[in-house]
Amino acid sequence: MTHINARWDEQEVRAAFPALAIRDAGVPRIYLDAPGGTQVAGRALSRMREAMVDHCANEGGSFRTSRLTDEGLEAAHAAAAEFVGAAPDEVLYGLNTTSLLFHFSRMLSRDWRPGDDIVLTRMDHDANVAPWLIAAEERGVNVRWLDFDVDTFQYRYDRLAALVGPRTRLVACNHASNFLGTINDVRRIVAAGRAVGAVTVVDAVQSAPHFLLDVAAIGCDLLASSPYKYFGPHAGLLYVRRELADRLTPLKVRPSPNSMPHKHAPGTPSFEAQLGTLGALEHLAWLGDRFGAVAPGSGLRVRIAGGLAAATAHETALAVRFLEGLRGIPGARLYGLSDPAAVTGRVPTFSLRIGRVPPTALAEALAARNIFVWAGSFYAYEIAGALGVRDDGVLRIGFAHYNTLAEVDTVLTALRELARGD
Ligand SMILES: Cc1ncc(COP(=O)(O)O)c(C=O)c1O
Repeated sequence: MTHINARWDEQEVRAAFPALAIRDAGVPRIYLDAPGGTQVAGRALSRMREAMVDHCANEGGSFRTSRLTDEGLEAAHAAAAEFVGAAPDEVLYGLNTTSLLFHFSRMLSRDWRPGDDIVLTRMDHDANVAPWLIAAEERGVNVRWLDFDVDTFQYRYDRLAALVGPRTRLVACNHASNFLGTINDVRRIVAAGRAVGAVTVVDAVQSAPHFLLDVAAIGCDLLASSPYKYFGPHAGLLYVRRELADRLTPLKVRPSPNSMPHKHAPGTPSFEAQLGTLGALEHLAWLGDRFGAVAPGSGLRVRIAGGLAAATAHETALAVRFLEGLRGIPGARLYGLSDPAAVTGRVPTFSLRIGRVPPTALAEALAARNIFVWAGSFYAYEIAGALGVRDDGVLRIGFAHYNTLAEVDTVLTALRELARGD
C-alpha cells in the first residue's frame, strides 16, 4: 500500500520544530504523545515572541505597541476563520476547549425547560459531555445517548432518528476520538440535530491536527479545537455561528464591547496564544507551499488545506506501518480500527494493551527508552466505561506529521521486546 508523498522531506519538516532537535544525554526523544499535545512549530514560537517582546501591550490604545497588538489579534482571528471556513467575527479564543464549552453551556442552557432533552455521544472527551450533563441536571432536562458499537468502533447511526425530537435542545458530538481514533460522520449527527431545531456542537480537537475543518459543510453551530494539539500554544478556539452568537445573552462585564469576539470571550485573553495560533496556522500553510499541490499566490485556507493533505499522506504511511507491525506482536490488542486498508477512517491515534501488562508499566518502560507515550483513558470517560478499561486504561501511541517511519519502527521494536517480557 503506498500513501507516500514523494515531495515530503522528513528532515525539513522536523527542522521546523525546535524541540525535535533536543537530546537527553545524547539520546533522541521520540514524541508519540501528539493526541495529548503536539510539539510547537518554530513559526508559532516566533509569533509568540512577537506578541510578548515586539508589541506587548493591551488592546485598543492609540500608541504603537497597542495598535500592533490590535493588528496581531485581527490577523489571528482572520487566520482562525480561514482555518475552519468561517467569517472572522464567528471565531473566538479562550483558555482551552473545556472552559469554552462550560462557558457556552451556561448561556445555552438558560432557556432549557424541564422535560426538554439533549443528545450526547459516547465517544467524546468529557469536555463535550460534562458541561452539558451539569446544565441538564440544573435545568431538569433529559439526556439521551448515541452509543457506539464496541466491535466496530462506529456510532450506531441508525438510532439517531429515534434519539432526536421536537424537544431536543442540543446535540453534541465529536469529530475524531482521542481514544479510538475513529473519524465520525459528524455531518450526519449534526443534520439530525438541525432537522429538529437543536443547537449542534462539534468537538474537533482531535480532527483539527489531521484534516481540514469546514463548518459550512458540517453545518454545526459551535465547533471547538485546541491549538496546542495542532502545533501551537495552549489555548482554545471556538467557531460560533453568527446567528447563535447574536441570539445568546452574553456573560460579560458591562463596559466591555458588545461585538464579537469580546462579548463572548470575557476578560483579557492571551494575546501570545492568539499570535502563537496564527504562527501554527502559518506552519500548516508553509507545509502546503512546500509539500502540497498548492498554486503560488493561493489564499491561506487553500495553503492550509494543501499542508494538511500533505501531512495526512505522511501520517497515513506511518499509521499503515504501525498497524502492519502491530499484527506481529504477541498479545497486542488494539481498541480501534485495525485494518491497514481502512486507515483513512481514523486518525493516527492508537490505544492498545499488551497481554496483562498494566498500560502504565508499558508507558514507563517506553519512557526509559526516551519514547514518550500516554497511559490512561484520557478523559474519554464513556469509552473507557463501554470498553471496561476505566480502571487501568490503555497505552496510547499517537503520530503527528513530524514523526518518522524510523520512529514507528523503533516503537514497534520496543513493544515487541516488552511483549516478550524483555
Ligand atoms: C477530543 C478532545 N476534546 C477535548 C479535549 C479538551 O481540550 P482542552 O484541554 O483544550 O480543554 C481534549 C484534550 O485532550 C480532546 O482530546
